[in-house]
Formats: sequence, C-alpha cells, structure tokens
Amino acid sequence: MSNIRFYDKVVIVTGAGGGLGRAYALEFAKRGAKVVVNDLGGSGSGEGENSRAADSVVDEIKAFGGDAVANYDSVEFGEKIVETAIDNFGRIDIVINNAGFLRDKSFTKMQDNDWDMIFNVHVDGAYKVTKAAWPYMQAQGFGRVIFTTSAAGIYGNFGQANYSAAKSALLGLGKTLAIEGARKNVFSNVIAPIAGSRLTETIWDDEILKATSPEYVVPLVIKLCDENSDENGGVFEVGASWFAKVRTERSKGVAFGVKDQVSAEQVASRWEDICDFEQSEPALDIGSTFVAVGNMVGLDLLAKKDK
Ligand SMILES: NC(=O)c1ccc[n+]([C@@H]2O[C@H](COP(=O)([O-])OP(=O)(O)OC[C@H]3O[C@@H](n4cnc5c(N)ncnc54)[C@H](O)[C@@H]3O)[C@@H](O)[C@H]2O)c1
Repeated sequence: MSNIRFYDKVVIVTGAGGGLGRAYALEFAKRGAKVVVNDLGGSGSGEGENSRAADSVVDEIKAFGGDAVANYDSVEFGEKIVETAIDNFGRIDIVINNAGFLRDKSFTKMQDNDWDMIFNVHVDGAYKVTKAAWPYMQAQGFGRVIFTTSAAGIYGNFGQANYSAAKSALLGLGKTLAIEGARKNVFSNVIAPIAGSRLTETIWDDEILKATSPEYVVPLVIKLCDENSDENGGVFEVGASWFAKVRTERSKGVAFGVKDQVSAEQVASRWEDICDFEQSEPALDIGSTFVAVGNMVGLDLLAKKDK
C-alpha cells in the first residue's frame, strides 16, 4: 500500500472554513497539495459573510509549512474560485464540492426563498465550480471531483424537501459527470457524510459529536481523489470511521406483454410481485434499464434504428 500524495496537485475545497471542508483542506495540504480554501463565511442558514473562516484555515495550513490561498467568493461564482487556483497555482486538479447550509422547514411552511437559497448553494454552486474547472481537467487528462450529497438526498427526510431535492440533484450530476469524464481520466464520486459540525450540533450531544468528528470522513475523500484510484461514479455513505457504498436495486418486476393494454386493476393485482425483491438485481446504469425491460418483452432496446 503506497502513501497517497498530492505533490504538484491543486485542490479547491469549497466551504473549507469549518466542519468537513476544513478537515479536507488540512489533510490535502499535509499530503502535499496546494489548496484553495474557499469559504463565504456565512451562518449555518446561509446569511452574512466573513473572510475570517477561510483565513484561519489558510493560517493553520501555513503554520505546518503547507501551501494554501484563501478565496471568499460564494460558490455561486465558481469561476472566480477556479480563477484563484489558476492565478495562484497555475492549474486545478481536484474539486471538493462541499459548501452548503440548511434551511429546514416542513414543506407546508417552506417559502420560495428557502427553496431557492438551498438550490443556489448546493446545486448551482457545485455546478459553477465544476463547470469552470472541467475544461482544465479535460485538457490535462486528469481530474477528481467530489460531490456532497446527504442521506436526506438519497432517502428523503422530514423537514428537508429543499435540501433533499438539491442533494438528490447532486447524485444525478455526479453520476453523469462520471460517465462524461471517464475517457479523460476525470472521475466524479458522490459522498453522503455524517459529521459533527455546526449543522448537526443542535441535534447531537457531545459524545456523538466527538464520535462523528469530520476527520473520520476525510480518508474516503483522500482515497477517491488519489490519481491511482479507479473508482468513478460511486456513491458512498461515510461517518465515524464507517465507509460504505450505496447502489440502487431493481426488483425482477412483472411483464404483462405488450399485445393488449394492461389495466390499472391488473397492475394492482400483481402489486406484491412488482415490489418483490426476492429476485432483485443491482441497477447499475441506464443500459441495465433497457436490458431489463427488453428481456421482459423480447426486444433489444439498445439497438439503434436503421437510418
Ligand atoms: N454534517 C453532516 O452530518 C452532513 C450530513 C450530510 C451532508 N453534509 C454536507 O456536508 C457539507 C459540509 O457540511 P458541514 O457539516 O461541514 O457544515 P459547516 O457549516 O461546518 O460547513 C459548511 C461551510 O460552507 C460554507 N458556505 C456556505 N455557503 C457558502 C457559499 N455560498 N460559498 C462558499 N462557502 C459557503 C460555510 O461558511 C461553512 O464554513 C455540506 O454540503 C452539508 O450539506 C453534512
């Protein structure tokens, strides 16, 4: 097992002024990376801004001889963050899309602003930073991108319609970029962390906060960003030194045949079989959907139309 090093690599960590982002930034710097420490420095619900958050992490990195520069732009202006990387270090290799905040409310009470702010930071922010870094990664034939979803994004959660929808969007973005970037060695993976931070300190006591310290998430991100890692398009749950991969699963399903129109009553009558996972299989890519339905009806849905 060789040591993972990031010499000559430039990393952007968004939202690196505290919590998980700070922990990633410190570890990348310890392993030789040049780090852009981005943080707008707002509150846990996305209000205000302050340059102190990013500055203090840059100071920490410099104190142990590491190389880092601060950036205070909102991720909504991702091109400026990438510009900071290029202006200071001349390249960009790794993007950790981590910045975010919560505006939890039941769907009944949620205002448009709660919805928009969450989409702006999590979805538009990750899109803007990654979009600006993408051409550099493609041109140099190397890139690693991490998207941060949440268990709420994978499973849904009461009071988090905005957050879970936005975090779900990042699953789709990460998986599609994994497909589009693969040929050029630009790999994207998605993580759903569990960490004690200011976002969770209101719900957990000190014992849990300590056991879920952000440092316990860091090894996964470091591994996924290693140039020798071939993991691409994965979704991982991680926290408290627990590391697990998540995938979707498809029941065998029921095919009624396409000769006659099937009624809703017929579907209802086979509901248990449709939802039966006894003979399930992992549903790993879009092709498998076409194969599954094609096998059921005896057609090759992947075959292209004759011109
Ligand atoms: N802590 C958890 O258990 C948990 C669970 C699931 C997902 N997450 C996700 O992990 C990420 C990090 O969360 P954390 O727990 O470390 O929270 P945190 O509040 O400690 O860190 C988030 C950082 O992002 C910064 N930020 C917010 N808006 C920004 C913007 N527009 N531009 C730049 N920076 C901005 C904040 O200033 C803050 O420093 C978030 O995306 C969060 O949704 C966390």
